[in-house]
Amino acid sequence: MAEISGNSAGLAPIGVFDSGVGGLTVAREIMRNLPNEHIVYFGDTARVPYGSKSRDTIIRYSQQIIRFLRTQQVKAIVIACNTASALALDEVEKEFDLPIIGVIRSGARVAAAATVNRKVGVIGTESTINSGMYDQLIHEEDPGITVYGKACPLLCPLVEEGWLKDPVTETVTRRYLDELLEAGIDSLILGCTHYPLLRSLIAGIVGDGIRLVNPAYETAKELERLLIQKNLINTGEKAPVNEPYKFYVSDAADKFKRFANSILPYDIETTRKINIEEY
Ligand code: DGL
Repeated sequence: MAEISGNSAGLAPIGVFDSGVGGLTVAREIMRNLPNEHIVYFGDTARVPYGSKSRDTIIRYSQQIIRFLRTQQVKAIVIACNTASALALDEVEKEFDLPIIGVIRSGARVAAAATVNRKVGVIGTESTINSGMYDQLIHEEDPGITVYGKACPLLCPLVEEGWLKDPVTETVTRRYLDELLEAGIDSLILGCTHYPLLRSLIAGIVGDGIRLVNPAYETAKELERLLIQKNLINTGEKAPVNEPYKFYVSDAADKFKRFANSILPYDIETTRKINIEEY
């Protein structure tokens, strides 16, 4: 990014990507926290879920998506997917010369600061939990914290079904959380993009004594700090484009649009489908 700086650089969009719709919970927080910023969002709806795939596959997918986002002249990239942040961030940070952040570090930092009894729970996809990335980053903050990870593979489909307050979702969630509650955690990281949509249901299960950490919210704050530090923040001028937010997917554009319109604070008009394998 050496060739652009100051607010001319600030006018460029932020690239945000996820395996599908879940990263919209991160995009939503960026829209709230940084209303001047433009966003190009990519949801890899043809290849979702990422949560059960290998590291090599997720790295390849992430490289392709970042190559696509670069064609959109993005000034920075947010990996709005816990699985891709856990498995691919290290690799793509080395490869691409633009600022890239994931969703895990900020969630880990906030949880490490929040816990009093030093017992932190993390829920996420199988790949995120098996990667041990939350454990590693929490231990960088405080090696004395015990981290209890729990993969919850049934929760994403329930969220995508729209069963956010359904008794079935409550039973399944309770069953996943039981062992974390027995372990005596006092903080719980919602370590998957879909889980902030279950926040009120989870809060009802765990009660007031457990602090819920939403990495989507924390990432939007971290992005703001990063943009200020790199002199890339949009200082107020409106970017010279009509659409502040653009949405691309690799499949099922209409389904994506319906889900997006149910969780974003405004209705998306256009979702464009691209062939991500070309990148
Ligand atoms: N976006 C993924 C994550 O946050 C969840 C969905 C998937 O498995 O692709 O880990």
